[in-house]
Amino acid sequence: MITREQLIKKYLNFFKLKGHKEIPNESLIPENDPTTLFISAGMHPLVPYLLGQPHPLGKRLMNLQRCIRTGDIEEVGDSTHHTFFEMLGNWSLGDYWKKEAITWSFEFGTKILKLPVKRLSVSCFKGDTDAKKDEESAKRWESLGIPKERIVFLSKSENWWGPAGKTGPCGPDTEIFYWKDNTSPAPEKFDPTNKKWVEIWNDVLMEYVKDQKGKYNEAKQKNIDNGRGVERILAAINNFEDNYLTELWQPMIKQIEKLSNKKYQKNEKPMRVIADHIKASVFIIADGIVPGNSEQGYILRRLIRRAIRYAKEIGLENFTSKVALPVFKIYDDYQHLQKNKEHILKELEKEEEKFNKTLKKGLKIFNKFSKNKKELSGEKIFLLYQSYGFPFELTKELAKEKGIKINQKSFQKELEKHQKLSRTATEGRFKSGLADNSETTTKLHTATHLLLKALQIILKNDSIIQRGSNITSERLRLDFSFPRKLTKEELEKVEELVNTQIQNSYEIIREEMPPKKAIKKGARGIFDKKYGEKVSVYLIGEFSKEICAGPHVKNTCELGVFRIKKESASSAGVRRIKAVLE
Ligand code: SER
Repeated sequence: MITREQLIKKYLNFFKLKGHKEIPNESLIPENDPTTLFISAGMHPLVPYLLGQPHPLGKRLMNLQRCIRTGDIEEVGDSTHHTFFEMLGNWSLGDYWKKEAITWSFEFGTKILKLPVKRLSVSCFKGDTDAKKDEESAKRWESLGIPKERIVFLSKSENWWGPAGKTGPCGPDTEIFYWKDNTSPAPEKFDPTNKKWVEIWNDVLMEYVKDQKGKYNEAKQKNIDNGRGVERILAAINNFEDNYLTELWQPMIKQIEKLSNKKYQKNEKPMRVIADHIKASVFIIADGIVPGNSEQGYILRRLIRRAIRYAKEIGLENFTSKVALPVFKIYDDYQHLQKNKEHILKELEKEEEKFNKTLKKGLKIFNKFSKNKKELSGEKIFLLYQSYGFPFELTKELAKEKGIKINQKSFQKELEKHQKLSRTATEGRFKSGLADNSETTTKLHTATHLLLKALQIILKNDSIIQRGSNITSERLRLDFSFPRKLTKEELEKVEELVNTQIQNSYEIIREEMPPKKAIKKGARGIFDKKYGEKVSVYLIGEFSKEICAGPHVKNTCELGVFRIKKESASSAGVRRIKAVLE
């Protein structure tokens, strides 16, 4: 048996000998690509370098990169698709080209991993108006020993990769397939529609850049982007026909079997979905996301809630954190996972509890709505979304199972109508940047005051002022005047100081007075705001004194634990901190 650790080592050693330098395994959340929510391939964080910017480590790079593919959520349940996976990648930035890329792929696969040539097939790009037929790659494969009948030419929908977001580097690719069936020999002729052929790696010949208009332009620099999924390779080299039988999944599957008292063999689909979604959720939370109603937080919510729904099918309850536990052992090399373990488990439990409260009722309502119906209206889908926390996709899937159509357009309209209404209702109610006054946002508002003061103290800079504040039900965001990036130590100290004030259980006192008096008493105002005749001053013990419209909690002990999630530049001379309360 070859382990994940051994596979990664073999890979990195092999490409190191071919002159590649290892680059870090980056966060799942893209830093500079607003067109997509998650890092979906190892090349993604490398986009600037693929476009020509010189990389400090040179022209040959390699790594292991964690990835999330949300496009595959509904495919999950078979033996080879996952939302979270790891990719082993190697790149040539305007350096070597097809000959080396293909030869090394072949060498690594057949010599190092010892995959038998008789179980391999390849596909190459068939050519269209954007790029010509890739005879060169096909010839190279042939020269290495792949028979002609095992090489097919396919169109763009199959043999073209990228860009990762909406625009960027991309190109035709050549893919390698492995015959996974252990009971019958691979057919002589390659039929890519036969599901027993599994794609195990992909050599992208990056010659194009897709622009905003959707046009493919020839790239200034020709790159190789070469990627392999750890899950599929590990299954192939260990002769498993099902990825979930490898060490990457077995501890989770065993835990699910134990908790549900059911066998994997008869419950493959729900158990795979549960394991996949919980693993992906663990990694997403570890990279700083919490369940929510937009962007990454929404995907996370969808994953957790979909896992919960499948868990019902096998009678599994209160399971999310328990099924998550083995993830920390399988991936014990990820430090950030270990460090955030408590937080991750708590977030899973919180979301599970939240959804459980309404799931049963929601399913009942769904059944009522769908009885003898051919289509579900937008209004009804919205009700399930709003009152029972059903992500749209969940309703869509339930409807599909029952053979009912759903009206997505009218749901979208309902959603927009509601968003508009709630905006109008809250506009003008709070002038201090609050969108609503729920319990959470109130807490975050108080935390913002503590944070500002803590920054002034730790950075020994009393003239730091608030330059902007935005609070959602998930997090606070504070913009403040400061000329440089904060160090890790400073951020830790700020976090600690805020948490100490929370533990000090300060009562929050509100006093009313004319603005002049407030300033004289040392109260801090917000920006260069014009105040009315009287203002409210909020005092948090001796610690902070701010002019503010509120609302605030009564005592700091209500806040829980304060955590800084991100510090970044906002604009010249202004820094931005995002933080949460746990
Ligand atoms: N970017 C390509 C893929 O994801 C090769 O790494 O398949």
